[in-house]
Amino acid sequence: MDNPTPEPQAVCSPITGSAIFIVATLVPDPDSIAKVRAWCGDIAALTRSVGKRVPSGNLSCICAFGSSAWDNLFGHPRPASLHAFREFGEEGRRAVATPGDILLHIRAEQMDLCFELATQLLNPLRGALSVVDEVQGFRYFDMRSIIGFVDGTENPTGRKIAEFTLVGAEDPTFAGGSYVLVQKYLHNMDAWNELPVETQEKVIGRTKLSDIELDDSIKPSCSHSSLTTITENGQEVKILRDNMPFGRPGAGEFGTYFIGYARSPAPIELMLENMFVGKPPGNYDRLLDFSTAVTGGLFFVPSADLLEELADREPSEN
Ligand code: HEM
Repeated sequence: MDNPTPEPQAVCSPITGSAIFIVATLVPDPDSIAKVRAWCGDIAALTRSVGKRVPSGNLSCICAFGSSAWDNLFGHPRPASLHAFREFGEEGRRAVATPGDILLHIRAEQMDLCFELATQLLNPLRGALSVVDEVQGFRYFDMRSIIGFVDGTENPTGRKIAEFTLVGAEDPTFAGGSYVLVQKYLHNMDAWNELPVETQEKVIGRTKLSDIELDDSIKPSCSHSSLTTITENGQEVKILRDNMPFGRPGAGEFGTYFIGYARSPAPIELMLENMFVGKPPGNYDRLLDFSTAVTGGLFFVPSADLLEELADREPSEN
C-alpha cells in the first residue's frame, strides 16, 4: 500500500467548550533540551491516558515549536516556512512578537480534562521549560467572542479544513504538519460597549444578533471581515480559527485568545498586515481601536507521526 499522508495532530478536530493555551520558553542547556525532545514521544500517550477517562470530553493536544526552538531541539531538516513572528503596524496599534518556543493548545469539552492534561504534560518538564503565558479559555454563549459577536462562522468546513491547514506536496518532509499563529488580545470593553450596535456591526462586518454578513453596499472596506477575507488567483484562502474568550471580571480583564492554523504562515500574515497596517495603508481594522495584542507567536505543528519520531532525533547527527 502507498504510504499515505502522515497522521496530523488534532488540528482539524471539532470546536470544544474549553481550552488551555500554554506558551513556554526552553531553558537553553543541553539536559533541558534533551528532556524536552524525549518528552515529544510521550505527548500522545499522556493525552490518551487522560482523555480515555471521559470519552465524551473530546480531549486533544497540539504541540508546536517556534523557529529557533526547532533549530535547538531538532536541527535540520526544518519546515520550509518556519520563521520568527513578523510584527506589523506602528506604536499604539501593533502586532507584537513575544518570546515563545513551545505552544500547547489543549482542547476539551470540560476544563477539568484540559487542566489535568496540562498538569501531566508540564510536571516532567519542571526546570526544562519556563511557562511565559498560560490562558484558560471558555466558550461563551452561542459561540460568541467576548465582544458579543459570533466567532468562527466563516471557518472552512468538510474537506476544505485539511486542504487549508495541512502542509502537502509543497514541503513533503513536513507533510501533515501545519503552521499556527497565536495572539492574546485585551479589549477595552467600556469603550466597545459605548458604541451603538449598528456601529459595532460595521466594525465586524456582520449583524450582531443574527450573525449575517452585511451587504456589500453597507459593509465598510475597513470592517474586520473585509480585511481578513483574502484571495489568491481569484480563490478565497481561508484559515482555521478556534479563538477563545478569557478574562477576570474582577480585574477588569476581558480578552480574546486568537489562534489560527494554516498550511503556510503567509495568509495569516497577510490578514494581520491588512488589520494592523490597513488595506490600503491607513484603512485599518477598527476592532484594534478597542483591542490590544499583548502577545504574538508563530509555531510549526509537526504531524503526529513526526512528533513521535522527533523524540529520537539527534540534531548533531544531521
Ligand atoms: C481581536 C481579536 C479578534 C476577534 C474578537 C475576532 C472576531 C471575529 C468575528 C466576530 C468574526 C466574524 C465571524 C466569523 O466568520 O468568524 C471574525 C471573522 C474573521 N476573523 Fe477575526 N477576530 C479577531 C482577530 C483576528 C485575527 C488576528 C485574524 C487573522 C490574523 C482574524 C481572522 C478572521 C477571519 C479570516 C475571519 C473570517 C472573515 C470572513 O471570511 O468573512 N481575526 N473574527
